[in-house]
Amino acid sequence: MATQLPEGLATPALVVDLDVMTGNVTRMAEASRAGGFTLRPHAKSHKCAHIARLQLRSGARGLSVATISEAEAFARAGVDDLFIASPVWPDAGKAQRLRRLADGVALRVGVDSVAGARRLGDAVRGGARPVEALVEVDSGARRTGVPPQAAGEVGQAAAEAGLRVVGAFTFPGHGYGHAPEARERAARDEERALGEAAEALRDAGLEAGVLSGGSTPTVGRWRPGTVNELRPGVYVFNDATQLAIGTCAAGDLALAAVATVISVPAPDRFVLDVGSKVLGSDRSPWVRGRGLLPAFPEATITSLWEHHAVVRLPAGVRGPALGSTVAVVPSHVCTPVNLADELLVVQHGEVVDRWPVTARGANT
Ligand SMILES: Cc1ncc(COP(=O)(O)O)c(C=O)c1O
Repeated sequence: MATQLPEGLATPALVVDLDVMTGNVTRMAEASRAGGFTLRPHAKSHKCAHIARLQLRSGARGLSVATISEAEAFARAGVDDLFIASPVWPDAGKAQRLRRLADGVALRVGVDSVAGARRLGDAVRGGARPVEALVEVDSGARRTGVPPQAAGEVGQAAAEAGLRVVGAFTFPGHGYGHAPEARERAARDEERALGEAAEALRDAGLEAGVLSGGSTPTVGRWRPGTVNELRPGVYVFNDATQLAIGTCAAGDLALAAVATVISVPAPDRFVLDVGSKVLGSDRSPWVRGRGLLPAFPEATITSLWEHHAVVRLPAGVRGPALGSTVAVVPSHVCTPVNLADELLVVQHGEVVDRWPVTARGANT
């Protein structure tokens, strides 16, 4: 956080440094433009219509989202080009919601199985506008996605089910390694996997115009090649994990939870009024403790309770005074944002705006 903390905040609160966040958004948009990539940021990290508009104004083509309800929230906020970057398995209710969505926005959905493609095709059949599909391939994260060579078979099933197949995507989650080599390797894996997927789609007589990759750790590793669309999410705020793995600098951290020191039970320990119900409980193997206190770099959050963070100090190091406020940078920013009603927007030490977390809890 570049700015000083505002005074008199009711804590805990999530604050966003407007200048740092805007800088992160602008730099990513410029880098994508310069590299010839379409930028379709993943909105699960901010879930906020204000930030989505900033990304779109800066040149993002549309948004990636994780769920149908995130897509609905951003569609209501006026975003008209959305990619649900995950396979979905629509029941009757979800089928109806997908059709309604597709009537109002350009909608693209991930598919990674023949059965899933058929089910999605059945779900959206008869809608006013065609739904586009991207075949998800696994580039090494071992989450969702078929082997790249199987993209043709899934794509064909999607096309036969009435979907408009436009290409493939992958999520390089294995780029979250400590060494720069992990990111480099994951970026190369994406390039290779999407190249093979494109070939398999074309061999099946399908289009492979959209080859979408990129997460915050790998996005800076791109060179002009196969990939033509990027979907970073966390870069908007960054977090302690991105700092630890070297994806961002301390000056790029745009979001923190502001907490009050509510107890100093011992000289080497203090307790903050922020716990897992605000910070989330995601842990990163690369972050010491459960978050970062930039003003007290030697302090370690050793445990998070629901409403308390217990912080330890090395012998002889002074901590903050009882009643003072401190900033805590979360290990992984997406969960705290999802737990908050609003983001307090801060500039030059003042709260200048309050932005609702538009798609808070939109998990269905
Ligand atoms: C499918 C997909 N695309 C893009 C992203 C964005 O990556 P990151 O959060 O590393 O910025 C994610 C994150 O989980 C994802 O699941």
